[in-house]
Parts: sequence; structure tokens; C-alpha cells
Amino acid sequence: IPVDPFDLVVVGATGDLGRRKILPALFRRFCAGQMPKGARVIGAARSDMSQDAFCDLVADAVREFSPKQAGEPGMLDGFLACVDYQRIDARGSKGWEALAAKLTPGRVRAFYFSVGPSLFGDLARRIREFGLVSDLTRIVVEKPFGHDLASARALNATLAEQFDESEIYRIDHYLGKETVQNLMAVRFGNMLFEPLWNSQYVDHIQITVAESVGVGGRGDYYDRAGAMRDMVQNHLMQLLCLIAMEPPAKFEPDAVRDEKLKVIRALDAMSPHHIVRGQYVADPAVPAGTDGPLGYRDEVGNPRSTTESYIALKAHISNWRWAGTPFYLRTGKRLVARSSVINVMFKDAPHSIFGADAGRHANTLTIRLQPNEGITLHVTIKEPGPGGMRLVDVPLDMSFAEALGPDGRDPADAYERLIMDVIRGNQTLFMRGDEVEEAWAWTDPVIAGWQSRGDVPKPYVIGTTGPVDADLLMKRDGRGWRGINP
Ligand code: BG6
Repeated sequence: IPVDPFDLVVVGATGDLGRRKILPALFRRFCAGQMPKGARVIGAARSDMSQDAFCDLVADAVREFSPKQAGEPGMLDGFLACVDYQRIDARGSKGWEALAAKLTPGRVRAFYFSVGPSLFGDLARRIREFGLVSDLTRIVVEKPFGHDLASARALNATLAEQFDESEIYRIDHYLGKETVQNLMAVRFGNMLFEPLWNSQYVDHIQITVAESVGVGGRGDYYDRAGAMRDMVQNHLMQLLCLIAMEPPAKFEPDAVRDEKLKVIRALDAMSPHHIVRGQYVADPAVPAGTDGPLGYRDEVGNPRSTTESYIALKAHISNWRWAGTPFYLRTGKRLVARSSVINVMFKDAPHSIFGADAGRHANTLTIRLQPNEGITLHVTIKEPGPGGMRLVDVPLDMSFAEALGPDGRDPADAYERLIMDVIRGNQTLFMRGDEVEEAWAWTDPVIAGWQSRGDVPKPYVIGTTGPVDADLLMKRDGRGWRGINP
């Protein structure tokens, strides 16, 4: 869908997120012809940087993170012609009038706060104070949106002093992923699944977001956050909501967000017995001093850290649809593979007409979010051969890359989609303030419990599937995790 010319001010554009994600995403939209003539991307930061120096930074970022498009003739120069830079002081008055002069009246003006949340309030106030607000103003903020319920409430209140909820776009980049949106298409675009999508037919659901990377250069932030705050409170919670919510009447922002909110509100308080925390340790088979990846504590430089880099948990949603069907969630760093997968595990057929010897297999719907994006439905058929009726489980497998051609192979990055939705004014794929608060309200008591008990995460060796206790969590219920790399 084409968009009208816009002004996008990226506050903190010179930071890591700006370089890795925001600027390359804008560049790819430019290459796709979606940045209309006259649209401006204005980097704003406190560094005293010339326009040329900023253009060099943009060019470097784009070459590094979008090399294919950066190699296309004329693209980079064309994009740089839309780029501008303004030095601003978030806590003072420097630069704001000059920034105001760069904005064109009558068009969408979006301010992307790609900075720590401690600056949100100052930025919001400056934008209003210096008359940068118009009828078409949009504020974009990133996670972490708070550290707990109290800080999230305070942030919401700070933003609400200056802006209406309809002007605030809280990013959870998982919602921008093509395959995550596909969850809604699969559920609500087909007649096949929805009638079975409840506790009568679904035994349990597994949501896995496994990463092979460690915490890398983000140790300072991560060690204060941990997997619960970094991944579960937001990304996994959003996946859970999309899988569990009731069909919204329309694919519209509040219709969708109302249904997600109801799911979070229906979550039972977590029992500590249903959670496993883990922390990765170096592989003892890799001799010290060699190049193997460091264990978590060495990587973050905190030898006594009790922060979790892995979580597995069992959640219950107490509503008519899901009472009795557990949701098992797990996520961790430095696991055996990078793989985000949802498995919907259906119940056994109520009775086997083929007798106990035939074998029994339950249907599974596997939705691969990344990589190898696609869907597999496991169905039961007859094992070939004359030896009587024996049953076997076979996959009906669909890879988006094969089924959809180039668009399926190379889907737009989450940030491309989300930034363009900001410009279009579509909040469907952004978190509403109450959703974020409810999610914190669910995770806060769990985290407080760990702190008061002095809980220490279980070690797991780098490159494995996580702590054995996570397997026991399932085993106790007579179940097992599907492989991380399906
Ligand atoms: C971020 C987390 O929000 O998501 C990171 O802060 C994590 O710790 C990342 O690595 C995962 O995102 P993706 O898109 O690589 O699955």
C-alpha cells in the first residue's frame, strides 16, 4: 500500500538499534519503492555530527546490514538524499528549533525513540514544548518498556501526559515478523483448524524460541533483565496471545488488542514448581583457553550472577476455551540451534478401531516461525506393506519458501513492516499500554519470588537443549518437548 510523504525523526539513530535495524529497514523500503518522493529520515542524537558524517554512518550501516540492496546501482545515493541529521539535547533546548524547521507541515511526523526509557519523558516534553506536535504526530517506543509493572505504569503515565494512546506505537518486533502474523491467517483464514482449537481437542501447546547466540555485547542490560523480562514478558507472551485469543470481529487495532488482553488477564498466577530457570555454562569438553564460547557469567563479567538465560514454564489459561490445556513455553540463549516453533499437540483419537498393536499417533500442527518458515501437519496413515494394519505418523509439510516463491523466501524484515505501519497509522501490530502492564503484572510475582528465595538457575551446557529439569517439567505430565530443530 503506498504511503504519503512523511518525516521520520529517529532519535538515537546513531545507536546500535538504529544502525542494525531501523536505518537498514528504511533503506530496504526505499529500494522497494515504498518511500515516496520527498519523504525525510532525520537522524537526531546528541553527537555533534555533520550531515556528511551521518550519511557515512548510514551508508556503512546499510552496506553491513543490507548488502544485497546496497549493491544495486543508485539505491544508496538515492536513499542518502532523503537523509538529514540534527543534533539535539534531550534534556535541554539545544537543536529543537532547528529540528522543528526541518519538518514539513501537513505530513505524518513520526518520532522514533531509539534511546533508553529514561529519556522518553524528556523527549515527549521537548517535542510538545517546541511545537513539533501536529495532528499527524506518532511516537514510537521500543522494548524494554519498563522493568516491572511499576516502571511500565510510570512510563505509560509519562507518555500519556503529552500524547494520546492512539499516537503511541510500542514495538514488539515479533509482531512484525511475517510468520507471526501468519498465525492469525492460519487460525482465522481457515475453517479447518478453528473448530478444533480448544481444550476438547488440543492436549497441549508448546512454544519454543531458541537462540544459538549468547548475550554478546549486551551483558550489562541482559544481566539486569534475564530471559523472563527480555523474552517471556513480551515476545513469548505475544505469541501465546495470538495462539490462544478468541477471534476478533475484525482485523483492527483495538479488536485484536482487546482479545490479546483477555488472554493475559485469564492466565493463572504462576506456580514456582512450573518454572525452570537455566544459565549456560561453557562446554567442559572444550579446553579452557581455547576459542569456545564463554559461559554466561564470564560473558557478562559477573561471576556470581543468578540471572537466567533460559526459561521453561507451564502456563494455564483459565477460560472456557483453554481450561485443562497447558501451554509450555521455553526460550533460551546459546542453545543447540536458532529455532522458533509452535507445536499444537492434538489429543489421541478417542478409540483405536485397529487394536492396541497398531500403534497410536496424535496429530500435531507445527508452525515454524524461523528459520525454515513453514507449517507441518502430522497425520496418521497406514504403514505400507501386507503385514496388517499398522499406523505410522507422516508429515504434510509446507515450506513458505517453496509455496510462495521469492516473497516466501525473503520476507520483509519485521522493522520494515512495523515502521511502515506507523506511517500508515495502523496500530494493530503494536502493544497497547494496558497489554504491557498486564504482562508485567503476570511476570512480576514470579521474579519477586526468585529474588526472595535467592533462586539460582540450573546450569546447562552451551549447545544443548537447556537444563534437564525442563525435560522433567514435561515428563512429570507424561509429555515431552518436540525437538528444537524440527
Ligand atoms: C530481542 C531480545 O528483543 O529479541 C534479544 O532483546 C533477542 O535478547 C532478540 O536475541 C531475538 O529476536 P530475533 O528476531 O532474532 O528472534
